[in-house]
Amino acid sequence: MDEAALFKLTHGIYVLGAWDEANNRFAGSVVDAVMQVANKPFMIALSCHNNSYTKLCIEKARCFSLSVVGADVEPFVIANFGFQTSRNVDKWAKVDYITVNNLPYLKDTMARIEAKVTEIIAYDSNTLFLAEVVDSWDCKCGDALTYNQYRAYFKDKVIESFNKYRQQLLKEKSNV
Ligand SMILES: Cc1cc2nc3c(=O)[nH]c(=O)nc-3n(C[C@H](O)[C@H](O)[C@H](O)COP(=O)(O)O)c2cc1C
Repeated sequence: MDEAALFKLTHGIYVLGAWDEANNRFAGSVVDAVMQVANKPFMIALSCHNNSYTKLCIEKARCFSLSVVGADVEPFVIANFGFQTSRNVDKWAKVDYITVNNLPYLKDTMARIEAKVTEIIAYDSNTLFLAEVVDSWDCKCGDALTYNQYRAYFKDKVIESFNKYRQQLLKEKSNV
């Protein structure tokens, strides 16, 4: 099997949000494994890797939010949600966000989607959520960021932004 073939499947980039009951705040992560799989009812599939804390929160809350990431996104948004875990960081406190129906969304996003989990399928590596779209909002025109664009030219900017953020945190710690 040539695994490179799987990178030819096109994906978008999304910020996922869910209520974290244990910490009384929202959890969140970057995901690309999302697609619409039916339109009657409107259904989407979301795949989370099994180490994701947001995955645990979705299993408990059985609902989640998606913010569709635009091509003009600040690299830090992806670094914040994709390079650290909500287990020990309040990621939503580090970005501008709004809440609708007790779920968090990026203020600056292409579109917002709220979904209610109907089925859960567990694999060794990932957990697949099938979910019904409860509500959705088309927020602005423009191009969404694709996973292939992220890999081709955006990832370096995200890494650079995460390194700057880590250095700032270390500086703040050493000043205490
Ligand atoms: C571009 C990109 C795409 C990602 N796609 C997924 C995905 O589809 N599913 C997933 O579970 N994690 C994905 N991740 C990894 C999670 O965002 C990452 O492991 C995150 O730290 C999990 O945070 P959590 O522990 O707060 O849930 C992706 C990360 C990046 C940067």
